[in-house]
Order: sequence, then structure tokens, then C-alpha cells
Amino acid sequence: MSKGPDSVDGNREAARFAGLRFDDFRRMATDPSLNMYEKIGFPKGFREGHEAAIFADILSKMRVLHKPGQRILDVGPGCSELPQLLINHCLKQGHELILLDAQEMLDMLPDGQGIAKVCGRFPDACPDLTPHVADGVDGIIVYSVLQHVFLEANPFVFLDALMALLRPGGYLLLGDVPNVSKRHRFLSSDAGIAYHQAYLRTDGLPEVKINQIEHGRITDAIVLGLVDRARTAGFDAFILPQPDELPMANRREDILIRRP
Ligand SMILES: C[S@@+](CC[C@H](N)C(=O)[O-])C[C@H]1O[C@@H](n2cnc3c(N)ncnc32)[C@H](O)[C@@H]1O
Repeated sequence: MSKGPDSVDGNREAARFAGLRFDDFRRMATDPSLNMYEKIGFPKGFREGHEAAIFADILSKMRVLHKPGQRILDVGPGCSELPQLLINHCLKQGHELILLDAQEMLDMLPDGQGIAKVCGRFPDACPDLTPHVADGVDGIIVYSVLQHVFLEANPFVFLDALMALLRPGGYLLLGDVPNVSKRHRFLSSDAGIAYHQAYLRTDGLPEVKINQIEHGRITDAIVLGLVDRARTAGFDAFILPQPDELPMANRREDILIRRP
């Protein structure tokens, strides 16, 4: 039976990884019973075989990655194939790459010329980051991290601290943001109902919550609020869709911020 994101098993497995905070990832990183996808909070079926397409999408949005010799910061790279793809790309382009995550995650990533590993939680518990970013960075990738930060910190403070690091012309991608409002919009549509019934092999209708607070979940208000925050601070900011072939494109989206 399929264990993709929308299968019965996939949904059950996803629930196993709900509500993860920074210290949960530290514990999971050293848990030998978990595979590399589970260590970063994804059931295998959500990521296995998809990470090359995810990286291609990141490359298409972060034009700065194509210019040689840039300084790139990845906040929360995790330990699956995705950071490996980024490392290889940065080595080829002669970028300086700074990987910021828990030591337990960083220990699973390879070393290489021009790659700095800095341990800590951004922005409040990573004092060793300062010397690496003192004169700013050209690109920042924060992929599938915002939903975890949202559970334990103020997302506006998080965004402000990221934007403060961007050099003129710099790019910041807050990627793979699960937006529960988007999910509900999709599940309210004919396409969403058909999708739900096919994947869960049911005739029932999906549960769509309206006018209810969903604690700990990112909604349109948060996504739009972050875009407004960035624009108010003098940055350009856009909400971008994910390509349909990405495993969670119907419920996730990306926020791209550029310093003019
Ligand atoms: C869901 S995983 C995503 C990993 C990777 N970006 C990817 O998409 O494959 C979240 C990662 O963010 C890290 N993380 C969570 N909060 C963080 C914070 N405030 N600062 C730095 N890393 C953080 C976790 O340790 C974990 O490695």
C-alpha cells in the first residue's frame, strides 16, 4: 500500500511527526531507529525520491545560487539528501556555505572546502554565527523550518533577524511553509474532494474547519503577515506556489524575499 502524503498510512505516519520543536530534532537526529527522512520529521514516503525535484525548485527560485562565489546560509539544513545537493552545488559554484542547525544534525553532513557548520538555534542561541555573517550574506535558505519555529518563537522576530543578514540584492527563501488555510481551500474544492476520496479510498468528505482557531498551525494571516512585515521593512516579498509534482504542493507554499 502507498505511504505517500495522502494515503491512509501516510496520514497516520505524519501524525507521528506533528508538533516538533528544535530539541525534538536533536533527539531524533541521534535515534538509530529512524531513517534520514524521519530524523528531519518526514515519513519516508513524503521525501524519498522527491528531493532532487525539491532542490530544482529551490534553484529556480533562488537565482542567487546560480552566480558564482556567493555567501549562502542554510538555516535548518537537516540531514537528508537535500543539504547534500546544496553542498555539491555550492562546491561547484565556489560559494561559501554556512550550515546552521543542531550539532547532532550537522554531524551527519559531509565537510568540504568553503563549508562552515555552525551549531545552534536561530536567532537566539547561535552565538558562533556572528563572525560568519558579520558583513551579510547573499542568499538564505530556510526550507521546511518555519512551522517548527512557529511553535516556540515569534515568527516576526525570526524573519526580522534573517532579513537583517541580507546584503543588497540578496534572496531569502522561507520554503515549504504548510499553510492550513490553503489546505482547507483545496479540500473545499471539487478537485480536493476527489483527491481526498481517491487517496483515502473513501466516499466521505474531507473535514474542513472554518472559523476555528487551529493552535500551532500557520494560516493565511501568518503568511500574509510575514509578507507585509518584509515589505514594510523595505524588502520585496512574494508568495510562490510549489510545482504540482512536489509531494505537498496542495497544502504548502513558499515565501521569497529579496532585498532591493
Ligand atoms: C523539517 S526539518 C527540515 C530540514 C531541511 N531544511 C529539509 O527541508 O530537508 C527542520 C530542521 O530545522 C532545524 N531547526 C528547527 N528550528 C531551528 C532554528 N530555530 N534554528 C536552526 N535550525 C532549526 C531542525 O533541527 C531540523 O534539522
